[in-house]
Amino acid sequence: TSNTMWGGRFAAGPDAIMEAINASIGYDRRLARQDIEGSRAHAAMLASVGILTDSDADAIREGLLTVLSEIEGGQFDFKPALEDIHMNVEARLKEVVGEPAGRLHTARSRNDQVATDFRLWVRDQCDAAETGLVALQKALLTQAEAGADMVMPGFTHLQVAQPVTWGHHMMAYVEMLGRDRGRFADARRRLNESPLGAAALAGTSFPIDRHMTAGALGFDAPMANSLDAVSARDFALEFLSASAICAVHLSRLAEEIVIWSTAQFRFVALSDRWSTGSSIMPQKKNPDAAELLRAKIGRILGAAVGLFTVMKGLPLAYSKDMQEDKEQVFDAADTLMLSLAAMTGMVSDMAPNADALRAAAATGFSTATDLADWLVRELNLPFREAHHVTGSLVALAERKGCDLPDLTLEDMRSAHEGITEGVFDVLGVENSVASRRSYGGTAPDRVREQIAAWRERLG
Ligand code: ARG
Repeated sequence: TSNTMWGGRFAAGPDAIMEAINASIGYDRRLARQDIEGSRAHAAMLASVGILTDSDADAIREGLLTVLSEIEGGQFDFKPALEDIHMNVEARLKEVVGEPAGRLHTARSRNDQVATDFRLWVRDQCDAAETGLVALQKALLTQAEAGADMVMPGFTHLQVAQPVTWGHHMMAYVEMLGRDRGRFADARRRLNESPLGAAALAGTSFPIDRHMTAGALGFDAPMANSLDAVSARDFALEFLSASAICAVHLSRLAEEIVIWSTAQFRFVALSDRWSTGSSIMPQKKNPDAAELLRAKIGRILGAAVGLFTVMKGLPLAYSKDMQEDKEQVFDAADTLMLSLAAMTGMVSDMAPNADALRAAAATGFSTATDLADWLVRELNLPFREAHHVTGSLVALAERKGCDLPDLTLEDMRSAHEGITEGVFDVLGVENSVASRRSYGGTAPDRVREQIAAWRERLG
């Protein structure tokens, strides 16, 4: 039998496989709350402009609450034959309130309906991302406070470069996540206009009040062009893009945690709560949570690429291709929120090993730049020449099998006769970090200023 919602011109129902490829109810049931919120706003508006009687609108609005409680109570019978959440809700509403249900769809189409529902859903996810990011920033901030003086190696090319502090390193991620929050906030601001009332694509001949429904749903305004309203999915692409960038950041921290927790580095100890064992090697404690976080970017970026590919080249206005928007966004959002929570737990529980960090900071001639800077400052050498002199001292230390502070004054003078005892003052790692007082530098009091500023911002 043909579809009761749109089957007027159809003699036969769909093939079973057609039904399978066409139905989105398996996943878009997640839009139930937004769908019902949107329909309630639409019904109230229809009544206020006189398109519906107050008693019909009241029946519809009450009935929708009943349907919502059935769905949330797990008592709702979702039917693939009714394709999607919109028609499942409306069909059930008909059973609950009878004739008035059929009047709800006046001056509306599933095209503006789904666009509205989905915007509301993504808006909530922008807020969830903000909450998750703030929690992770706070966990990092706590680590930074505890380790503001803890010296560790800073790397470039994963080779020891210059000493930094644990606090400085943690705060680097706080900054990154701050920008991620900005991206979700931007996405939220731009998506917060209402498509409802655009109808199928051209608007409607009914005297609807789109400002009223926009306001009722917490949108800043109705979207100004009905074709754009039903065609646009850039809000979802923006959410996915922000999610992908955020996931890149999480994956970088995750990779560092994987490296730091190895027996070779011993920079951090992970808690049992965020590690797993091996079924054959009894000694193993693996950083699985970090590894999974490193990998989750694959799904999130995949979702972004997936939806970019769906939307590319689609003519205006609605095409059924666009039904493929939701699973990508649902999966990316679920993955991101889980990742943020896992990273927050892992960061809160991880214990930096101050001794191992400090010992590693002193390897790899990490204060060579301090030596070169001393030559510039004290002997007025051009930096290029100071670099060269220091390089020859590194080579000498390498030949002698020692570190820079272990060279004798004589050794030093062999490279440049102007060098004095004072040079040894700058070769220690604590001195090195304390001296880097430029704005944004790793000096502990500079980092503490940043920590205090972020504490203030995060509350
Ligand atoms: N389930 C559809 C979607 O997710 C709703 C819109 C369907 N509109 C239509 N004209 N077939 O995109």
